[in-house]
Amino acid sequence: MGKASLQAWMGSDLTVLSTVAVALLMMLFVIVKFGLRSSRSSRSSRSRPKPDYRHRPAPRRARKKSSHLFQADRFFEEPEERRLDDDQDDDDDEDFDDFLPDPESTLELIRHRRTISAKDCNGRTVAEDEIRMLLEAANWAPTHGQTEPWRFVVIQGPGSITDYLVYLDRWYRDRADQLPESTMQKFQKKLGSCLDTWVDKVSHLLVIVMKRQAKPDKLMPEWEEMCAVAMAVQNLHLMATSLGLAVFWSSHTWCQDARESSDFKAYLGFAPEDKVMGCLTIGRYDRSKTFRGSRTPMFNKVALRAD
Ligand SMILES: Cc1cc2nc3c(=O)[nH]c(=O)nc-3n(C[C@H](O)[C@H](O)[C@H](O)COP(=O)(O)O)c2cc1C
Repeated sequence: MGKASLQAWMGSDLTVLSTVAVALLMMLFVIVKFGLRSSRSSRSSRSRPKPDYRHRPAPRRARKKSSHLFQADRFFEEPEERRLDDDQDDDDDEDFDDFLPDPESTLELIRHRRTISAKDCNGRTVAEDEIRMLLEAANWAPTHGQTEPWRFVVIQGPGSITDYLVYLDRWYRDRADQLPESTMQKFQKKLGSCLDTWVDKVSHLLVIVMKRQAKPDKLMPEWEEMCAVAMAVQNLHLMATSLGLAVFWSSHTWCQDARESSDFKAYLGFAPEDKVMGCLTIGRYDRSKTFRGSRTPMFNKVALRAD
């Protein structure tokens, strides 16, 4: 294309200048608009805390399916088998020695662990991280045959705690004509006192269950499995002492008929042969309060046969 025809096509010099100016303005607009947007987004992603996916809630569909049940993935994202064994390198052993509390501190922790009842709780929430610590401590209980029979149904928050009590109430009402009048009265009285005195004071309930055959190929004596669960509870209780939380083990005698029933076990997600061993109430309490414990001397409970 010749110069003359180019000029003819573009028109006068003035037209060329205005075309260049418009093009420059458009480029400037694009740079300002997209440049600002990207700097704004990088600034906001810097100031926003990173989401912690380990604690993400269970998917909505899974939660809906069995809303009364403990959804483990709300607490533990991926089930992993954790081992502390001889394969660990020596460095770990050294760390462990540094980390061990001295015998006096250990005894103090054990002696200062107290049962603190639900009515002494102050209504403040226990964090999920703390509940995870309690459960992790429980999980390191001794277990004959590695059956690990301890199970906990975590009931979190006032709505779910009320639902649990409402379920028990319905259980008894539905069977009122089969149960002795005295049983009904005893249950109603205790339920009333739960609702009046502590339902809005505790943060969590942990229903304790012994899974009768936790390993399909190993059936241990029932008493051993119950002992293993009790040891898990003791671990949990000691961790609660360390965290400054109130724990109370109720054996659920007041709702014993329900506790032993297959319906109740199914409601919790368990089989008829499994055993519900009561329930822990967990909450916060006013740390200025003191709770006394007492024990008769140990030497009355020990027989010694020695050389
Ligand atoms: C298996 C078991 C079941 C318990 N059940 C109840 C219960 O139903 N009601 C109750 O008041 N305390 C119950 N307790 C808690 C005891 O009352 C408490 O351990 C005892 O008073 C000693 O207090 P301490 O734990 O502060 O040392 C239970 C304890 C255990 C080990």
